[in-house]
Amino acid sequence: MTNRYQTTQLRELDALHHLHPFTDHSSLRTGGARVIVRGEGPYIWDSEGKRILDGMSGLWTANVGYGRKELAEVAYAQMLELPFYNTFFGTTHPPVVRLSRTLAELAPDNLNQVFYGSSGSEANDTAIRLIRHYWMLKGEPKRRIIISRKNAYHGSTIAAGSMGGMSHVHAHSYPVYEGFRHIIDPYWYGESEDGESPEAFGIRAARALEDEILAVGAENVAAFAGEPVQGAGGVKIPPESYWPELQRIVDKYGILFLADEVITGFGRLGTWFASQHYGIKPDLITFAKAVTSGYVPLSGVIVGDKIGDALMAHPDGFHHGYTFSGHPVACAVALKNLEIMEQERLVPRVKEVTGPALAKMLAKFKDHPLVGEARSIGVLGAIELVADKRTRRRFAEPGRVGLICRDHFFREGFIMRHVFDTMVTAPPLIWTQEQFDEAEVVIGRVLDLTLNDVAGELAA
Ligand SMILES: Cc1ncc(COP(=O)(O)O)c(C=O)c1O
Repeated sequence: MTNRYQTTQLRELDALHHLHPFTDHSSLRTGGARVIVRGEGPYIWDSEGKRILDGMSGLWTANVGYGRKELAEVAYAQMLELPFYNTFFGTTHPPVVRLSRTLAELAPDNLNQVFYGSSGSEANDTAIRLIRHYWMLKGEPKRRIIISRKNAYHGSTIAAGSMGGMSHVHAHSYPVYEGFRHIIDPYWYGESEDGESPEAFGIRAARALEDEILAVGAENVAAFAGEPVQGAGGVKIPPESYWPELQRIVDKYGILFLADEVITGFGRLGTWFASQHYGIKPDLITFAKAVTSGYVPLSGVIVGDKIGDALMAHPDGFHHGYTFSGHPVACAVALKNLEIMEQERLVPRVKEVTGPALAKMLAKFKDHPLVGEARSIGVLGAIELVADKRTRRRFAEPGRVGLICRDHFFREGFIMRHVFDTMVTAPPLIWTQEQFDEAEVVIGRVLDLTLNDVAGELAA
């Protein structure tokens, strides 16, 4: 383990040489990065020996927890057997064949073919290209517009970032790429009108798709894209009425449907894919993160027969691919990871044990003076921090209080992330009651500490 001297040195070198994703580099320079050195089961350890309960599965990723020897062993064996070969120009290898078969079995019925990448962003870029290519093949090249939602996160590449609906991402370094539109997200707590029920709001939010289709001309629309539950946007759980109405509109206009399951795939909602939980019928599902529980990078798009058949019907190739598409080591690790999930019944356990335990734990904070709403679905949860519970009024400077709260969590040895003033959690699927009890104690303490810091700003 790294000692204190080494920690200081690592922080200095990190500040000098490492540019971090989604990080304020000026404050990183003064404060220094956290150095994480080890993980085991549901815990990680920092370089000063502090044990931290990871309520975010790394980054919505480590569904089987840390330190799984079987995953390391399978990677080692695959590296000795065939560490790399490409899948371009009609070549394949056993791990990618076996994984494709497994994913086709786990995915909804009509999705049978997989195109691979290494990150969720790449998977979504592939999906965007496949969607537009499909309409070209169908002789409708005008259909280019993809309608997504505000606050969606689909990745950081230019195309995936444009399909995403985060204004701070758009504002930063590039204009939104042509051909993407963003409608309201199904966020009842933040977007509904006074007295509007979740059901009524869900229908209204879904119908925004129809309004947008008509506004831009149905003949120009290629697809709708959405995360079944918006994750990085703040764990926004759509009302029950939302997805059926949205699916009806997608069907009515015959556009393609891309479900971004980079977070919700591989068990988060108690089904292999959230599409199965909601009964929606996407034409494409993008996945990444938990397919390997993060032990090595892997992502992909599972494609419906409609698109697969269109590709097969044309002799011209799809001019797209990544060196690491279907990387053999990543595929071998994914297969073992999915086998572990199956053997330990981690997916059904979400409905039977972990999901109800998370819901029960979060419900205990509903009456806390800072908490506007505590919600969860499966093992995805959120707590809204507000200045006025009654009116849902937020604190001034969005994100300030969330950051105070998040920093208390770090100091108390628990990781929960903040999205502005919404605290979000996505525990690994292996948590037992012991971890839920531990988290409950820390959350209670941290909410009190945060309340203490901002008490003067609360509604009387
Ligand atoms: C829903 C969703 N899509 C895509 C991505 C991008 O994945 P990556 O960071 O692997 O590029 C993320 C990342 O968090 C995500 O949450």
